[in-house]
Amino acid sequence: MTVPPRAEFTDARSWIRSIPGAQASPPSSGLPMPGDSLLPDDPVGLFLRWLDEALAADVVEPHVATLSTVDEAGAPDARTLLLKDVTDNGWWFSSDLRSPKAHQLDACPDAALTFYWREQGRQVRVRGAVERGDAGVSARDFRDRSVTARAVAAASRQSEILTDGAEYDSAVRAAMSELEGDRAFVSATWQAWCLVPATVEFWHADPGRRHLRVRYRRILPAEGAGWHTDALWP
Ligand SMILES: Cc1cc2nc3c(=O)[nH]c(=O)nc-3n(C[C@H](O)[C@H](O)[C@H](O)COP(=O)(O)O)c2cc1C
Repeated sequence: MTVPPRAEFTDARSWIRSIPGAQASPPSSGLPMPGDSLLPDDPVGLFLRWLDEALAADVVEPHVATLSTVDEAGAPDARTLLLKDVTDNGWWFSSDLRSPKAHQLDACPDAALTFYWREQGRQVRVRGAVERGDAGVSARDFRDRSVTARAVAAASRQSEILTDGAEYDSAVRAAMSELEGDRAFVSATWQAWCLVPATVEFWHADPGRRHLRVRYRRILPAEGAGWHTDALWP
């Protein structure tokens, strides 16, 4: 459905309210409820299955997520970034240690990653505490980047105010020649983090709004370890 351009509306509200929601796929397509033997025991297994299904359904960039953090004053912040890995430990992403998100995570490691796969009407919410990966994991992540991405990361003063575009260009050029002269170069401030999940919620849209939701909650080792699952009201 095509939404008429803004100029055809008297106010932003009626224009925005005219934008249709995505047509969700039927609820039968892949979210078993707690108690169903098809529901994986752990959220990593279900996430990887859903990621596979997202790729098969041609979801654009299903590895892109929103990372939410809180700043030193307790105010929320959020930004888009790329998922780099999922292991038994959790969900991995990377960035520069000089960035605001890094300072926020140092002050408060509690964070959330949110995935939205519009084409499938699916959302995954991962909440927990973030841990720094070791130097080897961060270095491998840095080396896996394209040469331009490595140069930008090395030259980065991410989220500082840019007063002179030429200064940025020359910093990236300098980083590029350093990288070309040293194939093993790794930026000392490049960091991989792992969001270790405390809860992971899977949400699947239903056209009749009886959306399906399953939340995994980590059971503490003292209580037996593993995962507890609940269905949630839509
Ligand atoms: C699709 C997409 C992918 C991104 N991937 C990353 C990433 O993997 N790491 C990163 O540091 N920033 C990434 N960014 C940029 C961040 O959204 C953000 O602008 C930057 O990290 C600064 O955030 P901060 O000021 O909160 O630290 C991405 C942005 C978009 C739109």
